[in-house]
This record gives sequence, C-alpha cells and structure tokens, in this order.
Amino acid sequence: MALMLALSGLALLGGLYLWLSYNFLKAPMCRNRTSLRGKTVLITGGNKGIGEKTALDLAQRGARVILACRDKARTESAVSNIRRESGNNEVLFMSLDLADLSSVRAFADEFLRSEPRLDILINNAGVSAGGRSADGFNLTFQVNHLGHFLLTNLLLDRLKRCAPSRVVVVASQAHRVGRIDFQNIHKPVDGLLKFYQAYCHSKLANILHTRELANRLEGTNVTCYAVHPGFVDTELIHQFLIWCKPILFLTRLFLRNPVEGAQTSIYCATQEGIEMFSGHYFANCKLQEPYPQARNDAVAKKLWEFSEKLLGLAK
Ligand SMILES: NC(=O)c1ccc[n+]([C@@H]2O[C@H](COP(=O)([O-])OP(=O)(O)OC[C@H]3O[C@@H](n4cnc5c(N)ncnc54)[C@H](OP(=O)(O)O)[C@@H]3O)[C@@H](O)[C@H]2O)c1
Ligand SMILES: *[C@@H]1O[C@H](CO)[C@@H](O)[C@H](O)[C@H]1NC(C)=O
Ligand SMILES: *[C@@H]1O[C@H](CO)[C@@H](O)[C@H](O)[C@H]1NC(C)=O
Ligand SMILES: *[C@@H]1O[C@H](CO)[C@@H](O)[C@H](O)[C@H]1NC(C)=O
Repeated sequence: MALMLALSGLALLGGLYLWLSYNFLKAPMCRNRTSLRGKTVLITGGNKGIGEKTALDLAQRGARVILACRDKARTESAVSNIRRESGNNEVLFMSLDLADLSSVRAFADEFLRSEPRLDILINNAGVSAGGRSADGFNLTFQVNHLGHFLLTNLLLDRLKRCAPSRVVVVASQAHRVGRIDFQNIHKPVDGLLKFYQAYCHSKLANILHTRELANRLEGTNVTCYAVHPGFVDTELIHQFLIWCKPILFLTRLFLRNPVEGAQTSIYCATQEGIEMFSGHYFANCKLQEPYPQARNDAVAKKLWEFSEKLLGLAK
C-alpha cells in the first residue's frame, strides 16, 4: 500500500514535471503552407501516433506519401484515413520491418525499383522493448538506430539525385540520460528499467547519426534534422507509464496529442531556410541545443563507423 502510494506520488510529480516543462509551452503549430506537390515522402512507422499525423499533414500538402510499416493490416486503416482526410490518393503502404535487416534491404530494393523520387525521408518508427532483433542485436537499438541507419544509407543516392531533399530523424529529449557504450549498446537487454535505458541510448544515437550525416552530406543539398516531438499521447509512451496505469487518465492530460506531437517533424520536413542548420536538433519547431553528449563529433563519427561495421558495410 505504502509502495503504491509512493509510486503514485512519484508518478504525479513526474506528470507535473512534464506538464510544467512541456505543456506550459503549448506545442506551436507548424503554420507554413509549403506545398509538396510532385514530391515523394517516405515515413517509417506512419500507421499510428506521431507518424500517422505527420503523414496526414504532408499528404494534405500534395506529396506522394509512402508509409513504410511492418504490418499491412494495421496500416490499411491509416492509409484509408489519410486518403480520406487529405483528399490525396497517393498514400501507399510498403512493407518494412526494421527489426530485420534483410527486410530493410528488400524494402530499399523495392522502393528504388518502384519509386523514381525521394524528397523527404522521415525516420520516425521507434520502440522501447527488450529482447533481440532477427539479426541478434539489441531490439531497441536496431529498430530505432541501426535499421534506420541502413535504410538511410541505401537511399542516399536517390536523395542526392532529388536534391534539395531532406532526412528527418525523430529522436527524443530522452537522449539526456543516454550514452554510447560501444561494448554493450548493440547487445540485447532484459528488465523494464533497462528497456528505458536502451531507449534513451538509441535516441542519443539518433541525434549523433544526424550530426555525422550532415557532415557527410555537405555540399550535396541533402540536409538532415533531429527532432524532439514533446511528450505525446501514443502507445509508445503508455509503455513507459505502465507502472502508473491507475492514474494514466490523469497523466494523459499532461501529454500532447499526436497532431501537436507531429509539428516539429513537419516543420523540419517543410520549412524553407533552415538548411544551414543541417545536422542540428529541433523541438517546438525551433532550433535547440541538445545535451552535451549529443554534441560530440568524435563519438558521432565513431558511432557511424561502428554502425557500418555491425552492418558489414565497412570498407
Ligand atoms: N510519444 C512520445 O512522447 C515521444 C517522445 C519523444 C520521441 N518519440 C519518438 O517518436 C517516434 C514515434 O513514436 P510514437 O510516440 O508515435 O509511438 P507509436 O504510436 O508507438 O508509433 C511507433 C511506430 O513505430 C513502428 N514500429 C515499431 N517497430 C517497428 C519495426 N520493427 N519496423 C517498422 N516499424 C516499427 C510502429 O508500427 P507498428 O504499428 O507495427 O507497431 C509505429 O508505427 C519514435 O521514434 C519515438 O521514439 C515519441
Ligand atoms: C512559408 O514558406 C514560404 C515559402 O514556401 C515562405 O515564403 C514563407 O515566408 C514561410 N512562412 C513562414 C511563416 O515561415
Ligand atoms: C543494449 O543492451 C545493453 C546490455 O546488453 C544495454 O546496456 C544497452 O543499454 C542497450 N543499448 C541500446 C541502445 O539498446
Ligand atoms: C545546391 O543548390 C544550389 C542552389 O540551388 C546550387 O547552386 C548547387 O549547384 C546545388 N549543388 C548540388 C551539388 O546540387
């Protein structure tokens, strides 16, 4: 009983903290009406949550939008909702499971064969889970970082050919407690606390990936941006809040809805004039300084080379 009370008290304080630091600064809406007619957008995990609302907005701007998701049935309803709400029929499902590198490779082959353009790539899919991927890596690390790293590399030439083009990486403020331990980051973990840690490490990896990608893309007119969407009422965050389930209804009051959560991704995908901030981190539709461990160029470079090595891409 005392433990329950203590936990609930803690959860309440946590909720209050979220509320103060985020909802007080209500999510600004991305008002720019940049048209995306004639452009192709590829978004991972566009079937629910932040990804679905991002895809909807970009479809409303006239883009051809490919939802790269692992489950056709679960994506079908998102496809028809987005088509209906945007009046844009060029919204399509393509099969991608980031937890399986052979699926990432097959997806890239199929995409490059069937789609002539790629103007905006949004690495949005994310999980916080234990266990291992089909390839034996830390599942969270692979889905959130390594799978997206491979996908981005395989599509880079197409992005360059369609320049000016963009890569948006959905990271998180959770990178605050992340660190890159090259001995362990790719190995599987157990236990709820460790899931959360693995998530934070992978979100740090997202920001470092974006940073090094920008260096490598200099002079190509392909730019990239890392995003913190705010704390958003989606299935992902419910996993974190599992231990305060009895007061989930309360906590939800303090979270952004997915439309609000999508604003910074939309901003980085569409706002003109931010190209000089390629490689940087955005929140609330504004440039922000990430925590110091996300500004370390040496670790960013090392993570790139480490990822290449894990994937067998190193020369
Ligand atoms: N919610 C927040 O407060 C918050 C805060 C900071 C950052 N973020 C980031 O925002 C992004 C979107 O998350 P969300 O909050 O919108 O969560 P969500 O509603 O749970 O969406 C996660 C998406 O990732 C997809 N996904 C999971 N595993 C996959 C795999 N192996 N292959 C392909 N797709 C996979 C899911 O597809 P299925 O339907 O197949 O599972 C789903 O579409 C994530 O990168 C997350 O880290 C969220
Ligand atoms: C929106 O983008 C257009 C170009 O598409 C630009 O001229 C305009 O200044 C932008 N508006 C805002 C509010 O950023
Ligand atoms: C991967 O697993 C290791 C332990 O095996 C853990 O220490 C690390 O935090 C995890 N990292 C990521 C990014 O998943
Ligand atoms: C990048 O864009 C600028 C301005 O539009 C253009 O002058 C330049 O040739 C482009 N560079 C490449 C490599 O496409």
